[in-house]
Amino acid sequence: MKNNEIKKTVLLAGATGYLGKYIAKELIYRNINTKIIIRNLVKAIPLAYDFVEIIPAEVTRPETIKGHFAGVDTVISTVGITRQRDGLTYMAVDYRANMNLLEEAKKAGVKKFIYVSVINGQLHRNLKLVEAKEAFVDKLKASGLEYTIIRPNGFFSDMRDFLKMAEKGSVYIFGKGKKKFNPIHGADLAQVCVDAINSNQNEIVVGGPDILTHYEVAEMALLTSGKPINIIHVPHWVRKSILWIMRTFTSSKTYGPIEFFLTLMAEDAIAPRYGSHRLSLFFQNEMDTIKKRTNG
Ligand SMILES: NC(=O)c1ccc[n+]([C@@H]2O[C@H](COP(=O)([O-])OP(=O)(O)OC[C@H]3O[C@@H](n4cnc5c(N)ncnc54)[C@H](OP(=O)(O)O)[C@@H]3O)[C@@H](O)[C@H]2O)c1
Repeated sequence: MKNNEIKKTVLLAGATGYLGKYIAKELIYRNINTKIIIRNLVKAIPLAYDFVEIIPAEVTRPETIKGHFAGVDTVISTVGITRQRDGLTYMAVDYRANMNLLEEAKKAGVKKFIYVSVINGQLHRNLKLVEAKEAFVDKLKASGLEYTIIRPNGFFSDMRDFLKMAEKGSVYIFGKGKKKFNPIHGADLAQVCVDAINSNQNEIVVGGPDILTHYEVAEMALLTSGKPINIIHVPHWVRKSILWIMRTFTSSKTYGPIEFFLTLMAEDAIAPRYGSHRLSLFFQNEMDTIKKRTNG
């Protein structure tokens, strides 16, 4: 336990998500007074510690979060649509729900707001997901509150898609797969988010320790699965066609995540390296879990 942390009260929104769970654990580990806003009580059971106040509320409905920010020094929000299927738009969640948090924070005299956006968000405001996130970033910057915007690279949780393909025997990548990125584990990123409480940096761009090409990740996934190296190179014109078809014939709720993924898969995304969790070990642990599940 780190006893040298300044005693603060932190309100975390998004605590039941992939990153949020690690942030909650990091706050608990550092013995920081923590309030978490959650909409699903069952998901919050592992976070039920004495010094964690659990607030059941819907961040999309401002009346439900009213009054809960009293005594809070810092708000951390990881709220955003990833794989949720609630029928809500990015504007309703990534922008509006975070605005609800920001407005309540201002009313309660909260000093600092830490928000998790995406790497290179400023360059991709044309993408539906990023448009909503960066609209919130603009409001946060103009809010008068102290703030830190975290701009992480892809999460390890999303690298599971490579393993899923590998398990089926082949991994699809775009072009030669030479584009590079450094995905980050939730536990490493959680440390960055919690360190940001006492940081005066307004923006933190961060990725994991390994800079890898998409080809290398595909190869790693196949090797971990014990499958032959079968990597299928999808030409970029196919990627662009899928993008066009999705944007033309589906709603932003459907094409938003695909648009984001297909755009980022076509460019390098290298962030300052941080953390100790290696993707190879993550894949190995994931495979062990899959095998245990299958065997019994
Ligand atoms: N995944 C990546 O590679 C990546 C990379 C960079 C940045 N990011 C961003 O980092 C943030 C955290 O990502 P993550 O992977 O931890 O996402 P996640 O696991 O889906 O967690 C998102 C959180 O937002 C909450 N949320 C979503 N829709 C909501 C709604 N309608 N009402 C109330 N709460 C709602 C979720 O609540 P429930 O648990 O109740 O669903 C969850 O707590 C996201 O904003 C994401 O865009 C992700």
